[in-house]
Amino acid sequence: MEERVSWILKRRSIRRYKAKPVEEEKINLLMKAAMAAPSAANRQPWHFIVVTQREILDQLAEVHPYAKMLKEAPLCVVVCGDPEEATSKNSGLSYWVQDCSAAMQNLLLAASSLDLGGVWLGVHPNEEREKVIKDLLKIPEKIRPLGLAAIGYPEKEKKPNTHYREERVHGEVFEG
Ligand SMILES: Cc1cc2nc3c(=O)[nH]c(=O)nc-3n(C[C@H](O)[C@H](O)[C@H](O)COP(=O)(O)O)c2cc1C
Repeated sequence: MEERVSWILKRRSIRRYKAKPVEEEKINLLMKAAMAAPSAANRQPWHFIVVTQREILDQLAEVHPYAKMLKEAPLCVVVCGDPEEATSKNSGLSYWVQDCSAAMQNLLLAASSLDLGGVWLGVHPNEEREKVIKDLLKIPEKIRPLGLAAIGYPEKEKKPNTHYREERVHGEVFEG
């Protein structure tokens, strides 16, 4: 049975890449997978910026303190959200962070299943990072960058995930 989820367990953060570019067909599949994510009230409040130009990738690596791998990565997808579009008329609450996080995870899982490797680079809720990335990529005022996905062909394989912790699973109620 476990082999059925092995494609999920094999996803790891990949930070070293081969020089090979990511094919357009694969980029399109990544976008399709990202937009297949669930979203609150099915608002789908996301936007994706596909960056392949070396100059912009290098600039992103400069403005984000933990994104040096973008100097090597052939692709970066910037996952953005529209908080207004995601706001429920009934509750006034916006689920844009959850919606866009689901899209980001779908994208990373799809990358892994297409023999690519990627890593989530956090932007929101760091306001300073949001600002520099908005300025660099000409993101409209009302749109918020959630995070960057650096993607490329992995330089080497990583072992599958070993994060499982039995004690984090609670039966029926949390305590007792
Ligand atoms: C919200 C978020 C922000 C992250 N930001 C960074 C980052 O800025 N730079 C980085 O190298 N990795 C970043 N990561 C990747 C984590 O370091 C990584 O997922 C974690 O160490 C577990 O490793 P694994 O993804 O290989 O299982 C981020 C992950 C998440 C979910």
